Amino acid sequence: MVLVTRKASFSASHRLYNPAWPDARNAEVFGKCNNPNGHGHNYDIEVTVGGDPPEDTGMVIDLKKLADIIEAEIIERVDHKNLNVDVDFLLGTIPTAENMAIAFWNILAPKITEGTLRSIKLYESANNVVEYRG
Ligand code: NI
Repeated sequence: MVLVTRKASFSASHRLYNPAWPDARNAEVFGKCNNPNGHGHNYDIEVTVGGDPPEDTGMVIDLKKLADIIEAEIIERVDHKNLNVDVDFLLGTIPTAENMAIAFWNILAPKITEGTLRSIKLYESANNVVEYRG
């Protein structure tokens, strides 16, 4: 099996809080990320697709097609958005990188018909990255 990866970037804001908890517990658990008026990140996403390259194309997936899928299905829906209120598929979830990676997987997996989705990596900063493998 060969793994191929396409990267993309977006910027978005969010606030981490659990509406079921009192303010003090939210502040304790989420710290600075609980700032009432939110804060922003420059996110990087890496989408990895695996498969055997077929003889006729030699490509697991056409990376231009994968780039277009990521752009249309993810980037256009989250870039320059408030992840708490603007993004339909994140409503009702705490918009941590973990939950975002799972949501991105659930959107992208059925759209990828060449090869199989293997991994979503979401970098919230240079040092903080989460990976979801389905
Ligand atoms: Ni944050």
